[in-house]
Amino acid sequence: MPDLASLDRHVDACRRLILDRLDRGRDEPPATRREIDTLLALSSSDAGPLSPVSPTRLPACDFLPDALALGDLGPEADIARALSAIAPALHWTYSYPDDPRLNGLASAIAFTQIIGRQGLKRDNGLLLGLTLMAPHTIYPLHAHPAVEFYLVIAGTALWQAGHEPAMARPPGSLIFHPSGVAHAMTTAAEPLLAVFTWHGDIMSPSVYLT
Ligand SMILES: [Fe+2]
Repeated sequence: MPDLASLDRHVDACRRLILDRLDRGRDEPPATRREIDTLLALSSSDAGPLSPVSPTRLPACDFLPDALALGDLGPEADIARALSAIAPALHWTYSYPDDPRLNGLASAIAFTQIIGRQGLKRDNGLLLGLTLMAPHTIYPLHAHPAVEFYLVIAGTALWQAGHEPAMARPPGSLIFHPSGVAHAMTTAAEPLLAVFTWHGDIMSPSVYLT
């Protein structure tokens, strides 16, 4: 576990790397680019002071070391290394209510906030975190009012959104989910580690549509 001064620096570095990476999404379609600009405009110029939460882990975290090692070999290696530095401090959760039809997902999917109300720092306009999925896992169709970006750090999974067919999205992919659009992910042999950002209505939860 890094000391608090080091953690403070690592979180700032991580946040900056991710926001800079989104800012380089200049080849994205105009609607996506507009949302990136909105997100960057909403983000504070500097993250606030550190507000460490108690670190927790979930069963899916067994796959975090492999995912970070995979990420270190890919196009987002800088971000993977920055995430490795803060990994011991992360508070992982599975934020959906119990559902007997979806037994096992709480052991296979985990989320953590880096910037957010439950994160290591606060930023009123931005929620920034990680989604981690075990191999051979289906994250069923779900939706939320928040506008979402995903950046794949490790693992090629199938991503499906709206009426579009599912597509394999490798590390380095930037994926945009407009407010309310249903989306789902399915992993194969690799775990999935992806950065997510939310802006807009970040208070309303994601809900399963199954
Ligand atoms: Fe989502």
